[in-house]
Amino acid sequence: MIAGKQQLQQSQLFSLKGSILTLSILTLISFTYLSFKSLRPPLPLSPATPQLTLLPFTTTSTPPSPARIFASKKENNVGEGEDDNDEDDDLITDVYHSPKLFKLNFEEMERKFKIYIYPDGDPKTFYQTPRKLTGKYASEGYFFQNIRESRFRTENPHQAHLFFIPISCHKMRGKGTSYENMTIIVQDYVDSLIAKYPYWNRTLGADHFFVTCHDVGVRATEGVPFLVKNAIRVVCSPSYDVGFIPHKDIALPQVLQPFALPAGGNDIENRTSLGFWAGHRNSKIRVILARVWENDTELDISNNRISRATGHFVYQKRFYRTKFCICPGGSQVNSARIADSIHYGCVPVILSNYYDLPFNDILDWRKFAVVLRENDVYDLKKILKNISHDEFVSLHKNLVKIQKHFQWNSPPIKFDAFYMVIYELWLRHHVIKY
Ligand SMILES: *[C@@H]1O[C@H](CO)[C@@H](O)[C@H](O)[C@H]1NC(C)=O
Ligand SMILES: *[C@@H]1O[C@H](CO)[C@@H](O)[C@H](O)[C@H]1NC(C)=O
Ligand SMILES: *[C@@H]1O[C@H](CO)[C@@H](O)[C@H](O)[C@H]1NC(C)=O
Ligand SMILES: *[C@@H]1O[C@H](CO)[C@@H](O)[C@H](O)[C@H]1NC(C)=O
Ligand SMILES: *[C@@H]1O[C@H](CO)[C@@H](O)[C@H](O)[C@H]1NC(C)=O
Repeated sequence: MIAGKQQLQQSQLFSLKGSILTLSILTLISFTYLSFKSLRPPLPLSPATPQLTLLPFTTTSTPPSPARIFASKKENNVGEGEDDNDEDDDLITDVYHSPKLFKLNFEEMERKFKIYIYPDGDPKTFYQTPRKLTGKYASEGYFFQNIRESRFRTENPHQAHLFFIPISCHKMRGKGTSYENMTIIVQDYVDSLIAKYPYWNRTLGADHFFVTCHDVGVRATEGVPFLVKNAIRVVCSPSYDVGFIPHKDIALPQVLQPFALPAGGNDIENRTSLGFWAGHRNSKIRVILARVWENDTELDISNNRISRATGHFVYQKRFYRTKFCICPGGSQVNSARIADSIHYGCVPVILSNYYDLPFNDILDWRKFAVVLRENDVYDLKKILKNISHDEFVSLHKNLVKIQKHFQWNSPPIKFDAFYMVIYELWLRHHVIKY
C-alpha cells in the first residue's frame, strides 16, 4: 500500500516533471521561432520572397513586406521629379543632355547657392551700377541688376560659394574709356580687393567671377594674370581661339531686349522662306556669305543691313516667315541674331568657328539649331535643303521649348537667362574648394 502510494506519488512527480519539461521545450521552441522571425533581415534577398519586385503593390492583397515597402520607396525616389511639379514637366525632354540631372541640380542650386558681391567702388563710376537694360550689351546690365534682386545674393562673405567682382565694361565704354584703360581700371580694382579682403588669396581667385557682355570680353581681365588663369569669366564673346577658356569660363548669351514683336512658334505654315540674313559685312564670313548667296532665289541674303528701326518691323517680321536664320559671327563669334532667331521661332544656323555656345554643357544645340563651320558657307543651300520637313518640324518645336532660357527678366524668373548663367556658375563652384 505504502509502495503503491509512493509509486503514485512518483508517477505524479514524473508527470509534473514531464509537464514542466514539455512546457519549457515548448517555450524554448516558440522563443527560438519568434527570435528567428524578428532577427530576419528586413531585406531578404533569397529567391523565396517573390514580393521583392519593383512593381507597385496595388494588385495583391498580401500585406506589404518590409522588402516591398523598401522597394516601393526606392522606386518613388527614382521617379521623383516626373510627377511632383507640372510646371517642370517639359524639362524632361531631350533638348537637355541630362534632363533629370539638370532638374535635380537646379533645385539644389535654388536651395543653397550664395554669392557675395564686393561692395567697394563709387557706384557713380563703373562699379555696382546696373547698366541700362537695352541695347546690344543688355545682358551685362541684366546680370548686374538681377543678381541684386535674386535670392542668390548674400551679405555674409562666410556663407558665399562664389565672389562677384562688380565692374562694368559696358559702363566704362559709355564713359569713353579706351580698351587699354579698361584693362588698367579692372586691374587696379581687383588689386584693391586683393589687398583689402582675405577671400581672393585663399584660392588665388578661383572662387571669383567677372561678367561682361562688351566686345572687350576676356581682354579686359588681362592685367590680372590670376583673373585670366583661375577666375571664372562670364562673357558674350566666348571664342576659344582668343583667350576664352572653355569649361572654366562661361558664355553669356547676347540678347538684344526688349524684343519688338512677340515670340514665334507653332507657326510652321507661315515659314515659306528657306533662309534669311541681312546685316553689316563686318567680318570675313559675312563678306563671303553675301558674296556667294546675295542673288540666290531661295536664300534671302542681303548685304545691306535692314535697320531694326525700319517702319512696321520689316526686319523682325522676316524672322517669322523664315525656316532657317543664318547667324554668322561679326567682329566676334557671337551675335544677338541668335537670340533673335530663337525668340521669333526661326531655327538658328550657327556659322562660326571656335564658338563655345551659351549653355552648351546643358543644352544639346543640335536639337534646335544647325551648327556649321565657316567653311560650310559654300554648301549652305545644299545643307539646308537636305534637312527633311520632319527634321525641321522637330528643330522648330524644340526651339520653342528653350526660348525661356534666352530671355532676361527683371526680377529674374526661374529658368530664364539669368538662372541659366547662375546654374553654370553653380556647376563650376563644385570644383573649387579652399
Ligand atoms: C587713359 O588713361 C590715361 C592715364 O590715366 C589718360 O591720360 C587717358 O586720357 C585715358 N584715355 C582714355 C581714352 O580714357
Ligand atoms: C594677398 O596676397 C598678396 C600677395 O601675396 C598680398 O600683397 C596681399 O596683402 C594679400 N592680401 C591680404 C588681405 O592679406
Ligand atoms: C500667319 O501669318 C498671318 C499673316 O501675317 C497671321 O495672321 C497668322 O496668325 C499667322 N499664323 C500663325 C500660326 O502664326
Ligand atoms: C548679283 O547681282 C548683281 C546685280 O545684277 C551683280 O552685280 C553681282 O555680281 C551678282 N552677284 C553674284 C555673286 O552673282
Ligand atoms: C543629307 O542628309 C543625309 C541624312 O540626313 C546625310 O547622310 C547626308 O550626308 C546629307 N548630305 C549633305 C550634303 O549634307
